[in-house]
Amino acid sequence: MNGAVGVTVSEIGTQEMDAQNVPAGKSAELSVILPSFNEAKNIPILVGLLDTALKGINWEAIVVDDNSPDGTTEVARAIAESDPRIRVIRRIGRRGLSGACIEGILASSAPYVAVMDADLQHDETLLPKMLDELKSDDTDLVVASRKVEGGTVGEGLSAIRAWGSNVANGLAQKLLNVTLTDPMSGFFMVRREKAEALASRLSPQGFKILLDLVSSASGTLKIKELPFTFRERQHGESKLDTLVTLDYFGLLLAKYFGDVVSVRFLMFGLVGASGLVVHLAALRMFLLGGLEFNLAQTAASFVAMTSNFFLNNQLTYRDRRLRGLQAMVGLLTFYAVCSVGVLANVGVANLIYLDPSYWWFAGTAGAVMGAVWNYAASSALTWRKS
Ligand code: GDD
Ligand code: MN
Repeated sequence: MNGAVGVTVSEIGTQEMDAQNVPAGKSAELSVILPSFNEAKNIPILVGLLDTALKGINWEAIVVDDNSPDGTTEVARAIAESDPRIRVIRRIGRRGLSGACIEGILASSAPYVAVMDADLQHDETLLPKMLDELKSDDTDLVVASRKVEGGTVGEGLSAIRAWGSNVANGLAQKLLNVTLTDPMSGFFMVRREKAEALASRLSPQGFKILLDLVSSASGTLKIKELPFTFRERQHGESKLDTLVTLDYFGLLLAKYFGDVVSVRFLMFGLVGASGLVVHLAALRMFLLGGLEFNLAQTAASFVAMTSNFFLNNQLTYRDRRLRGLQAMVGLLTFYAVCSVGVLANVGVANLIYLDPSYWWFAGTAGAVMGAVWNYAASSALTWRKS
């Protein structure tokens, strides 16, 4: 009973107000997630633009900065000191646009969340329209598209990027049946509960959060597209590179195969296949150089393992990339892991190799076993999560 504890609910309310000397404000209806890496010059301008564009809306912005060397976090915090609508998440030891967006979404309590680039390339005046769509219609996701009629890539994309973007869109549509006109768009608004429900299935690597969200939802999201013009970047530079593109194709393949294999495993497998080529080339060179076969084979294995290690460190585990001394230790554990992998490979192959006419089956099974072992063990030992 209330009387027993001596305070009533309304008293608690008043006491809290007195303590903080501010009325309990309403929490934001819209969170704008702003992933940032080296956007110190853009953040203050963007906050001003949001303030104008979102008049009459109860909004907040969450800057998710991956510890940018240019001091983006500090700039955002300085704004947050006098503007409680601005929040900052500073991530250390992690990199990746998708992951930053996911963390931002999960840090929000607003019913609606927008994801938007922090570099002024996205048109913030579209946000109120996107919010209206989400609220009025039974829509779960509104995508700002550069491809839908009326939208353009404007001056924002170089010719080669525009072409690459078309290829990527075409593949997403063919392989995944994603009917979005611009699945690579980094500008969208979604009901938070919907994104939250899918969060555990999303990959934090790369730039492909929208495609990932839509394909993971497998048709359950009601989607609307609105056109916009992609602006040219004024300050700083784009972080989209070849690796990001590779990663995008990785997701397409992984989703196409129904998520049976992860993007990471696929990448690991591709690196492994490249290692075979490196191995054979090195073996040939050592043999030509006059080494006897056993020695040449061992040396070639080390060349291939070393090449695999550095490729995996750059590609497969770019989000956990090892540097300096850590990379040296990582290389040694990788050698150890792969040596056991060879044993697993040969062991399994031997077990299966009863009938010589099935040599290819034994060989493949052994190789797959070795790859699975190498992948599992190296992700647990060499590139373990810190
Ligand atoms: N936290 C964090 N971590 N933010 C990042 C990272 C990262 O590793 N990489 C990029 N960002 C931020 C940038 O600071 C920027 O605010 C936004 O994400 C987009 O990055 P850009 O580097 O400017 O991308 P872009 O303009 O080349 O690419 C645009 O078009 C792509 C499709 O062509 C973006 O809208 C992409 O989202 C989109 O996929
Ligand atoms: Mn950009």
